[in-house]
Amino acid sequence: MLPKIDWDFARADIHFATHGLHPYPARMIPQIARRLIEMYSLPGDKVLDPFCGSGGVLVESMLRGRDSFGIDINPLACLLARVKSTPIDPELLMSYWEKLRAGIEKDIIAARFKQIKVKVPDFSGTNIEYWFKPYMIEELLIIKRHLDEIGKEANLGTKKIREFFNVCFSNTVRVVSGAKKREFKLYRMPKEKWKKYRPNVFEVFKNRVNDSIRRMGEFYELFMGNSLKAKAEVFEADTRKMFTKEFPEEARRQLHEESIDLVVTSPPYGDSRTTVAYGQFSRYSLIWLGFDKKVISEIDKKSLGGNTREKNLDSKILIDVLSRISEKRAADVKSYFVDIEECLDKIYKVVKNGGHACFVLGNRTVNRMKIPTDEIIVELGSRYGFDHVATFHRRIPSKRIPWKSSPTNIPGQKVETISKENIIVLRK
Ligand SMILES: C[S@@+](CC[C@H](N)C(=O)[O-])C[C@H]1O[C@@H](n2cnc3c(N)ncnc32)[C@H](O)[C@@H]1O
Repeated sequence: MLPKIDWDFARADIHFATHGLHPYPARMIPQIARRLIEMYSLPGDKVLDPFCGSGGVLVESMLRGRDSFGIDINPLACLLARVKSTPIDPELLMSYWEKLRAGIEKDIIAARFKQIKVKVPDFSGTNIEYWFKPYMIEELLIIKRHLDEIGKEANLGTKKIREFFNVCFSNTVRVVSGAKKREFKLYRMPKEKWKKYRPNVFEVFKNRVNDSIRRMGEFYELFMGNSLKAKAEVFEADTRKMFTKEFPEEARRQLHEESIDLVVTSPPYGDSRTTVAYGQFSRYSLIWLGFDKKVISEIDKKSLGGNTREKNLDSKILIDVLSRISEKRAADVKSYFVDIEECLDKIYKVVKNGGHACFVLGNRTVNRMKIPTDEIIVELGSRYGFDHVATFHRRIPSKRIPWKSSPTNIPGQKVETISKENIIVLRK
């Protein structure tokens, strides 16, 4: 008998190298991505993550010598995925940082002594004052102005440097804001705590930069130590639109039919109100990074299950589940699976014959009923011609459970959440 493989990785360091650059909800742990990449692909193969989030699959693909592609609708996810999978020499980062640090520090001191006036852009409709105190806004604006200057005078290779520091900045925004830490939804800290809360914005930024340069150094060393120099590319796009005109041209060129050896992905859970609210999580980072308010407000609507959709789905398991939950929730769950099915169709097309598609996700509960998403994916996948190879299980250590909110959205009121992840392997 084969020894049982341990998929729990309970004591694994999931933050090593660039994996720990910035938080992101419901991350796939690098150890699972790595194992799937090693089991189902070879060096030189192409890997796709059609819901790449912060890009852990891309980082692991690079470190195993596989070129990879990531797709995500969330611009913050795309920024994180790009930065995490772009090796930069830490000495180069240090040289930029020394100049930046001196300039920012000088301006922050001058602003504190009212020697310079900081121009505040139009933040209307963002409710920014609720989450940031006036001094925070002023100092964040000074840092951002310096980051925007990176590369203005220099060569084209500076985009990756600016994006690296933008990730440190996004982290700073998260730390100094009045949002409760360790929550992926936006809840403000209690009034009394907020009154006394006075973090030193520049100190926070400095710490984030130093920590991030160290992590990038670790990634750079691992990458340089691998003789196969793999590349990663990230597309801000909707996976449902693959192969259509609405998909970016460059992505269409790279992701044509039968172009991918392996898909490794963790799709969203659907229903941002009760599971992971990617829009809320990203909101203030994106506002501060200067993204369009409309783009930000549409993230959750664009996410799988974000719009009501109706279609007859060929899944007995799903039909049975839908008949046991309330009509309103059944419509939400169905919309999600209509979207999932559309993605399975695209994923089937993009994978080469004999290639694999691996999905990592837990089964969520609706109206106290477990939705067997793993079985439904296997059933829907088989309609397109996917064979079910295996489903592995991982127990999630309690502190890493992807979300802990209640369906009523009342903070503190907990219900059963996801404590087990399924790893579904399909073959074309
Ligand atoms: C569970 S997260 C992925 C996390 C990722 N594995 C990581 O380690 O960071 C799911 C991702 O799917 C993205 N997403 C949702 N709907 C999408 C769509 N229609 N097309 C592409 N990405 C989508 C979300 O923005 C989110 O980043």
